[in-house]
Amino acid sequence: MADFRRVLEFLVLTAILQMAICAEFFKPFNVSYDHRALIIDGKRRMLISSGIHYPRATPDMWPDLIAKSKEGGADVIQTYAFWNGHEPIRGQYNFEGRYDIVKFVKLVGSAGLYFHLRIGPYVCAEWNFGGFPVWLRDVPGIEFRTDNEPFKVEMQRFVKKMVDLMQQEMLFSWQGGPIILLQIENEYGNIESKYGQRGKEYIKWAARMAHALGAGVPWVMCKQTDAPEDIIDACNGYYCDGFKPNSYKKPALWTEDWNGWYTTWGGRVPHRPVEDNAFAVARFFQRGGSFHNYYMYFGGTNFGRTSGGPFYITSYDYDAPLDEYGLLSQPKWGHLKDLHAAIKLCEPALVAVDDAPEYINLGPKQEAHVYRGSSHTEDLSSSLSGDEICSAFLANIDEHNSASVKFLGQVYSLPPWSVSILPDCKNVAFNTAKVGAQISIKTAELGSSCFSNITEPGYQLLREDRLISTTWVTSKEPIGEWGENNFTAQGILEHLNVTKDTSDYLWYVCRIHISDEDSSYWETSQVYPKLIIGSIRDVVRIFVNGQLAGSVVGRWVPVEQPVQLVQGYNELAILSATVGLQNYGAFLEKDGAGFKGQVKLTGLKSGEIDLSMSLWSYQVGLKGEFMKIYSLEEHDSAVWIDLQQDSISTSFTWYKTFFDAPSGKDPVALDLGSMGKGQAWVNGHNIGRYWSLVAPKGGCQKTCDYRGAYNSDKCTTNCGETTQRWYHIPRAWLRPSNNLLVLFEETGGNPLEISILLHSTTTICAQVSESHYPPLHLWSHPDIVNRKRSISDLPPEMHLRCDDGQIISSVTFASYGTPQGGCQEFSQGKCHAPTSLSVVSEACQGRNECTIRVSNKIFGDPCQRVAKTLAVEAKCQSSSAMNAAWL
Ligand code: GAL
Repeated sequence: MADFRRVLEFLVLTAILQMAICAEFFKPFNVSYDHRALIIDGKRRMLISSGIHYPRATPDMWPDLIAKSKEGGADVIQTYAFWNGHEPIRGQYNFEGRYDIVKFVKLVGSAGLYFHLRIGPYVCAEWNFGGFPVWLRDVPGIEFRTDNEPFKVEMQRFVKKMVDLMQQEMLFSWQGGPIILLQIENEYGNIESKYGQRGKEYIKWAARMAHALGAGVPWVMCKQTDAPEDIIDACNGYYCDGFKPNSYKKPALWTEDWNGWYTTWGGRVPHRPVEDNAFAVARFFQRGGSFHNYYMYFGGTNFGRTSGGPFYITSYDYDAPLDEYGLLSQPKWGHLKDLHAAIKLCEPALVAVDDAPEYINLGPKQEAHVYRGSSHTEDLSSSLSGDEICSAFLANIDEHNSASVKFLGQVYSLPPWSVSILPDCKNVAFNTAKVGAQISIKTAELGSSCFSNITEPGYQLLREDRLISTTWVTSKEPIGEWGENNFTAQGILEHLNVTKDTSDYLWYVCRIHISDEDSSYWETSQVYPKLIIGSIRDVVRIFVNGQLAGSVVGRWVPVEQPVQLVQGYNELAILSATVGLQNYGAFLEKDGAGFKGQVKLTGLKSGEIDLSMSLWSYQVGLKGEFMKIYSLEEHDSAVWIDLQQDSISTSFTWYKTFFDAPSGKDPVALDLGSMGKGQAWVNGHNIGRYWSLVAPKGGCQKTCDYRGAYNSDKCTTNCGETTQRWYHIPRAWLRPSNNLLVLFEETGGNPLEISILLHSTTTICAQVSESHYPPLHLWSHPDIVNRKRSISDLPPEMHLRCDDGQIISSVTFASYGTPQGGCQEFSQGKCHAPTSLSVVSEACQGRNECTIRVSNKIFGDPCQRVAKTLAVEAKCQSSSAMNAAWL
């Protein structure tokens, strides 16, 4: 009986939970738009959106990423839908785990945020094959992204599937869900001309098809100047302030603000300075923009073989405000948070202006845009008489010089390449070039990055010099054919036609007979044989009789490889490997992989042999891969032998070990800097491709000047270093002990040097001057709103914060006065308040975060008539580690 009651209780509880999950997130509301903005539930809105691609994180990370987006000032979460993740086999859908998009949208809704779903289904995104399932190439008569019936049928099927799913789950705004906006196609305008009239027809069809699905919220197309009347054309780029949609009836939306950039194997790592990013965003709203999305707010990780390319690395950190592991990337996150708060203070005035704002020329490269209106609601930013509201943006687009400008009778000083935001047309709430937010450095060694304003991904050794394991076992991967699923065919088959992308790898094997005449010819003529291939992508490794002759890497590059052949039969085995399928450009279905053109052997007595029509054996994938020897179930099925010191650094080798998870909650990374190229699995989860290619020695900048137009080569780090050394192992994939780590190594490396690292903030610094703007949240303080006090009377504040679960363990530097130097090299200047360290330590030590007012009242005035600054450096430590140390 008791059991029965328990079961009943359980059922009731699950039903309640279920109901909670199905509950409406909002009161149902409509979304429409006019020339000024999206209209949400009858009101124009200025919206900030955070780009997060759900499969680039694990579901357990989603709530925190959404919460940190919201805290950072986002109203909307934006993502693509990843077709090849959702329909890996035609007709077989996957909406589980990292592909549980319904759960993701619901989490966004329950956080009270809106959702922008970009269905594509072509998405680009540095994602494998731009999001297309590889089986799509095999649909008879198909041509992608044009007026082609088979393609349109498949595209419509997937788009409908997604819209129907969202509708069934009650996720559209008019159903009380968070989805306010959709997207069809992606940047088709970039390639449209390649398709002539058929491209134009296709776009019209895509628009009609999308609308016919009855989703009931607006659709956008990005970079589509000929978007039909009922679709909003949106801007993508580093700057979109000059953007005008193709019809007066549409608002200016910015679907992709590239706040960073992606990285290529062997490339430098790009960073976008936050001062420039903030400038671009402020300029957009200044000049009439109304919806802005960060691509990416959180970039995350290309787990498994999801990264596109060719040659995009496993990390998709993107220099985003939330780093690859989900930690705040500072000062980016904090400075943009302040920017968003300032823009939000202007929202009533911004939406009140129907046509253009008032434009005031303030100088040769200085201008103001003034938004005035009457407030019908209780408005926070108004300090003007009556119900008139006014907000202004003052811009100095001079890349070199600051400017002093006169605006409505007051003088304002504008740093170069900056915008000041005045929510009340009088007081500066924010300037894009004045960063008050803290810098976080995530490790001691890497913190000495060349840019003081750029934080490097940083790592802390879990246990210094402790190898993850000294007990590795290894297993050899055969060179060439290994199994029963191989076959022979006349001629060279296209790589993807054979592999269907079930693996990166395809072996092409053939036998070549060398006569005694040939070998004596080589001796006398000194001419030696060469293997010639018209062109290849992405990697080929050429083996003759089991020995590596050479490797070639590139995107459709020619091969001319000297080979050593012996008299009699020789086995030529060529491994063709993809490193992420092409994700951008026209005619993707034709791109393929492997070889193009003739394959031949030159330097024979008889001249050359054309191997293009020879009999070849084909073997898809690696034996270990197909036996799943990386999985918890199957790893024992391989023959493993103990790793011998002298067998380190062999190629085509599997390595296996077990390790315990580091305690605590800090994100975990694997240092694979000692390895060559391959893939790594933890407890059967593919954590991604690894490749220790080194970035060029030169081309990184000593300092990064935020001023002037940004491009992805402008501010790069990591010159002469391995492009990606650390690989994220999501906590969700770990158990406390005995975690299985398996690597497949293609070129050779030393597993004994692999280590597990914890990723966390170690040092934080901030610098705020007494003339900095007061904290943005105080603008809504009742005393300010009711004009009992003026915002300009309030002192600025410094805010310091360690990662969640950490505390400020010590304050290593504090000076209120005229401190010198930057983070990690601060020193006291001539003027220094002796109270500095005790005031800051008192306020901060032992806490996760703290706030200090920057004023004489707090520190005492150490030097009158001198402009003073507070500079602080502090250490962060995990609070559990601190407790342990104190025990
Ligand atoms: C855009 C594209 C995105 C992404 C981005 C670069 O052109 O729409 O999907 O690829 O470039 O990160």
